[in-house]
Amino acid sequence: MQKLTVVKMCMVGREQPPYPLVKRLARGSSSYVWTAVHEAFLIFAPWSNSMRIDILSAVPRLLDSWFSESILQRAQQKGLAEVKVHDLRVWSTDKHRRLDDYPFGGGAGMVMTIDPIHRAITELRSQRQYNEVIYLSPDGEMLGQSLANQLSTKGNLILLCGHYKGVDERVREHLITREVSIGDYVLSGGELAAAVLSDAVIRLLPGVLGDETSALSDSFQDGLVAPPDYTRPADYQGWKVPDILLSGHQANIDAWRHQQALDRTRQRRPDLLDSTDSDPQTTFN
Ligand code: ADE
Repeated sequence: MQKLTVVKMCMVGREQPPYPLVKRLARGSSSYVWTAVHEAFLIFAPWSNSMRIDILSAVPRLLDSWFSESILQRAQQKGLAEVKVHDLRVWSTDKHRRLDDYPFGGGAGMVMTIDPIHRAITELRSQRQYNEVIYLSPDGEMLGQSLANQLSTKGNLILLCGHYKGVDERVREHLITREVSIGDYVLSGGELAAAVLSDAVIRLLPGVLGDETSALSDSFQDGLVAPPDYTRPADYQGWKVPDILLSGHQANIDAWRHQQALDRTRQRRPDLLDSTDSDPQTTFN
């Protein structure tokens, strides 16, 4: 049976980190070629300097544990990323440090006022340049792997978390450069969405993950879901690891994994294969 692997490299020229492309170039090649390509990538990658994310929130405590634990803390300790969570109330001039007010025209719920947000963004912007000022909102652009890739190439980001009914529309019109949603459901605030976005982006920064290649084998990174993984024991009470993974034949293992990824994608996420945005390598038998 002849196998033909079609490699579509249409990511070239798009605003994405070259991870998927590098992965494709390195796929099937020996690990020292991969290492050399990746090393060069780390040296020349302009975004390999520390990334800075400033999060503006009415409830900053919600985010404390998220950024003081896990891989995000390691990224900060290694100096690869810096995340600062700011309490928006600091910029409120109201005597009770309120951040919200009644909506003009009536209706239920409160609206976040523009002034504290404007002051906060203006102050941050006077300290450094930001590539994007992102408002987390359920009606924003959907966060997917390609947007995470794209944002990981940006130096500095401001993330604004909404609360109550949301923000005064003039914030969106004049202060925000991008709006991002993490799914078609409404959360009670943008904090979880900011944490999700930060995690998805920071783990892509070179050096953040212990094993540099592991972000590359994530689901979605090449338009496919990830193939299955196994670890010891090879036989657990009669439930066995596929023989191919124990064969030591790397080319066959790579081919098996790729086929598994394709089969799984067809089964679980056929939309990824149809999507013009996805860019899978397709194997024809
Ligand atoms: N704020 C409330 N719901 C949200 C969502 N689904 N995505 C991003 N921000 C949100």
